[in-house]
Amino acid sequence: MTNRLDEFLNTRKALIEQRLPLYIQKLQAPSTLKQSMLYSLEAGGKRLRPILVLALLHAYGKKEEDGIPVGCAVEMIHTYSLIHDDLPCMDDDDLRRGKPTNHKIYGEATAVLAGDALLTESFKMITTHVSAEVPAEKRLRLVNELISAAGAEGMVGGQILDMEAESKPVSLQELQSIHEGKTAKLLSFSVIAGAILADAPEEEIEKLREFSHHIGIGFQIRDDILDLEGSEDKIGKRIGSDTSNGKSTYPSLLSLEGAKQKLDEHIKKAKQLISELSLEQDLLYELCDMIADRDH
Ligand code: IPE
Ligand code: IPE
Ligand code: MG
Ligand code: MG
Ligand code: MG
Repeated sequence: MTNRLDEFLNTRKALIEQRLPLYIQKLQAPSTLKQSMLYSLEAGGKRLRPILVLALLHAYGKKEEDGIPVGCAVEMIHTYSLIHDDLPCMDDDDLRRGKPTNHKIYGEATAVLAGDALLTESFKMITTHVSAEVPAEKRLRLVNELISAAGAEGMVGGQILDMEAESKPVSLQELQSIHEGKTAKLLSFSVIAGAILADAPEEEIEKLREFSHHIGIGFQIRDDILDLEGSEDKIGKRIGSDTSNGKSTYPSLLSLEGAKQKLDEHIKKAKQLISELSLEQDLLYELCDMIADRDH
């Protein structure tokens, strides 16, 4: 990783981690619920989704401030998706972000409710916590994008397809739709939201949607690979979870080598799309490489 990318990732991660708990602490809500929400939000994580919002603003030469609450919104939804994903009725995992999973500490019912609350409160980040300079029409567009990315047409839809694909053969096409829904859509929101906030030209927003599809699929392929050859200490979750749940993954369909090749193809396409845009390209190229090579 270059020093420049490292610096960008570290400074923006710190900004997000400083803001995230403030929104939750201020809520007039029962303390167990808040503790459980904060437990998972503060457990760490790469914060890639908020970082992408800020990276797009940066690449278009715009100030990043309004990207922070929008980034927090997507991070809250992502964290809720992880809490629910780890439940015994889903992937039944006991380690997340290097700590016991939410339900292991707070019990299943509270974990479900902490997820519900994170999801619901996330929308306020956009409706209320973005500065008054962002017009209502733009906020509405962001909220609509977030609903499509997170809901039945996005992450939740992908998660059910993922469950249905357990222990049964699926085609590569079907697996790609699963990865698109459960993972790429939220990452895509981050890219599009950054571009919308930056007032990027509409034709570039559409190209960025395509770009984000490729990094999103690539990101989940790398996640599948790390489930097989990652280190538990680095990824902060148990390895071999997919295998024990009989999940359909890129390596299970294509072999480890085949999965790595597919990952390369998606990253190449993503970089090609970036080269056609009017923004500062270097940071986004570096992010593409990071997504392909990450070890956690
Ligand atoms: C894990 O996401 C779940 C997937 C969609 C692959 P991340 O790998 O971004 O997890 P954190 O946020 O860094 O913990
Ligand atoms: C999960 O995919 C995607 C989500 C919507 C949470 P995985 O089930 O592979 O994510 P990990 O490996 O548990 O983080
Ligand atoms: Mg899962
Ligand atoms: Mg899982
Ligand atoms: Mg996984």
